[in-house]
Amino acid sequence: IEKITVIGGGSTYTPELIDGFIQHEPDLQVDEIALYDIDEERLNIVGGMAQRQVQYAELDTKVTLNLDRPKAVDGAKFVLSSMRIGHMAARILDEKIPLKYNVIGQETTGPGGTFKAFRTIPVTLDIAKDMEKYAPDAWYINFTNPSGIMTEAILKHTNLNVVGLCNNPINTIAAMAEAFHVEPKDVFLEWMGLNHVNWVRKVYIKGEDVTQQLIDNLEKMVDIEEMPKIDPDLVRTLGVMPTYYLQYYYFHPQRLAEAKAAEKSRGQVVLEVEKELLKKYADPNVMIKPPELAQRGGARYSEAAVNLIMSLMLDRRDVQIVVARNGTSIPDLDPDVSVEVPCVVGAHGVTPLSMGRLPESIRALCQHAKAWESATVKAAVSGSRRDAYLAMLQNPLVPDYPTAVKLVDEMLEAHKQYLPQF
Ligand code: G6P
Ligand code: MN
Ligand code: MN
Repeated sequence: IEKITVIGGGSTYTPELIDGFIQHEPDLQVDEIALYDIDEERLNIVGGMAQRQVQYAELDTKVTLNLDRPKAVDGAKFVLSSMRIGHMAARILDEKIPLKYNVIGQETTGPGGTFKAFRTIPVTLDIAKDMEKYAPDAWYINFTNPSGIMTEAILKHTNLNVVGLCNNPINTIAAMAEAFHVEPKDVFLEWMGLNHVNWVRKVYIKGEDVTQQLIDNLEKMVDIEEMPKIDPDLVRTLGVMPTYYLQYYYFHPQRLAEAKAAEKSRGQVVLEVEKELLKKYADPNVMIKPPELAQRGGARYSEAAVNLIMSLMLDRRDVQIVVARNGTSIPDLDPDVSVEVPCVVGAHGVTPLSMGRLPESIRALCQHAKAWESATVKAAVSGSRRDAYLAMLQNPLVPDYPTAVKLVDEMLEAHKQYLPQF
């Protein structure tokens, strides 16, 4: 690969990504990794770390630091985005403001996700314009949360080739492999729904359907780190297994009470982890990704990125769970929305498997969350306050219209420097 560009190259996750490229350099053969960021100080610290990682691995890959975006994307084959408009301070507001209105401030599936999308979509559409000009055939690989909403915005409003990614699918596959004492490659999941709003309908191990065995034995699996921690009785009620982020919908009162009682929001905790990470990255003696990175939720996401890039590049046509245009995969959702389902990934692109209808036990919630996601894309682009109310009202955590209005009014004000479209 001649060139891979990382938008948000100053992210503390970048060394994770670089590590993934280093592990797979014999297949990838990357000439240049172009890190782009608007924050020069972060870019220098994280970029310096990335350069030492590559040097230490004795690769001839060039890591360049870029403040000029068109130049950074020019000629790229892959553009990876992992950015946070307004930095962690904005996340903390996303998490805290909703608590006042008795709604959990989740930054992907809650009202925080609405506003993270409002801040990020305009910037992303600008990046897309640069890419349409300077790297029209590149793949845009989106990690930026809310990943499903971002991917849908790019699908609907640009001509780019886009795939959305999340590390939860590979983490869940790893958990199943551990539970059944096999390798991840032996696991096939019928994973269906949206990014962070998804369920595992069936688990196959080497072709054998072990779903019932899993459901019957969930109590014994609580020690498996990546196994979604959901009340086994709920799983039995639904007949399918909800993944991690659905706890915010199915157990909202509990999660809300915990969030209110917590001394710090997740964003505040992450801020401290990041301080430590940046200290290490700035230390010229640190040559490999530090163990503290595992404290971030996105740890191991480089594995998902490298898998995806390898299949797109080498035409492997294997099956990976990624975010793509629905088409006819889930007939309960519109064709032009984004879904997270198993897809065939090759040089031609990503083709979702036909998953069929959502089980009735989860159908309405999935459609509800999708209505919120699509309305969020619409409002982010239109900049209309009324569209924003409608988007917020359709979030499954928002109970009524007055609450939606209060949330939008306060959050629009709090984030106004990052919301030029409103
Ligand atoms: C998971 C999700 C990511 C999310 C991350 C949060 O891995 O898949 O989408 O960004 O957790 O991690 P953080 O350390 O920022 O709370
Ligand atoms: Mn090389
Ligand atoms: Mn994710």
